[in-house]
Amino acid sequence: MTIDEAVFERHSVRSYTSKPLTKEQIEELQSRITNLNESFALHMQLVLNDDVAFSGRLAHYGSFKNVTNYIAVAGQKSVAGCEASLDERSGYAVANLVILAQMLGLNTCVVGLTFKKSSTIEINDDEKLELVIAIGFGETQGVQHAMKPATRIAPDYDSAPDWFKKGIDYVMLAPSALNQFKAKFTVDENGHVFAKARFAPFAKVDLGIFKYFFELGAGKEIFRRSMQTLRSSDVI
Ligand SMILES: Cc1cc2nc3c(=O)[nH]c(=O)nc-3n(C[C@H](O)[C@H](O)[C@H](O)COP(=O)(O)O)c2cc1C
Repeated sequence: MTIDEAVFERHSVRSYTSKPLTKEQIEELQSRITNLNESFALHMQLVLNDDVAFSGRLAHYGSFKNVTNYIAVAGQKSVAGCEASLDERSGYAVANLVILAQMLGLNTCVVGLTFKKSSTIEINDDEKLELVIAIGFGETQGVQHAMKPATRIAPDYDSAPDWFKKGIDYVMLAPSALNQFKAKFTVDENGHVFAKARFAPFAKVDLGIFKYFFELGAGKEIFRRSMQTLRSSDVI
């Protein structure tokens, strides 16, 4: 599956089969997590066979079934020399991982609220747990979320250049907290793109996710540098 196919085929999945992840899938995920942690000052962890995080009332409320594998997304709250907040850095890395998982034949759901913090997840003193990503072989492939008009996040979409439009088209397929898409993207006459979060729960995590999807669609690395820490210049 190509990266573009993964963008179109990814949908949140909340019910999983008991089929374990393969050795190759685990290795690919671990390796990407290590790279992303280094680049974005995060402490993401792949947790396998945990029956705590999705066992409680909240998971039931969120209609989760048989989630035993997930990626815990934690990271340093602030990093000297890095422009982006933990929320944004997390979102950018989360987007990278849900697309990788889809390409590996796995399903995912980003979960900010409806899970319980498990003691298996390591959080250091200067870190915060942002969210988790449920991951595994889904009972289904999920369904396309209700699409919002592109002008919701890009008011000047109709008069914008084609590459910008394609970036926004990809953003509209991204996971978004409560499917809200609370962000605003604009482009000036020099082709500089500006992206801002509006006020809503998880809006800054969403912004990081949208920036990653925008880059995939537009075919330009516009936001990566501001998201990375100074410690690493790896290209993932
Ligand atoms: C930051 C963030 C937090 C989320 N938190 C939850 C959650 O707590 N529970 C849940 O069931 N889904 C959660 N979701 C999944 C969204 O509901 C889902 O992405 C959205 O409805 C769009 O659907 P799609 O992912 O199938 O495109 C979250 C998504 C994001 C991006």
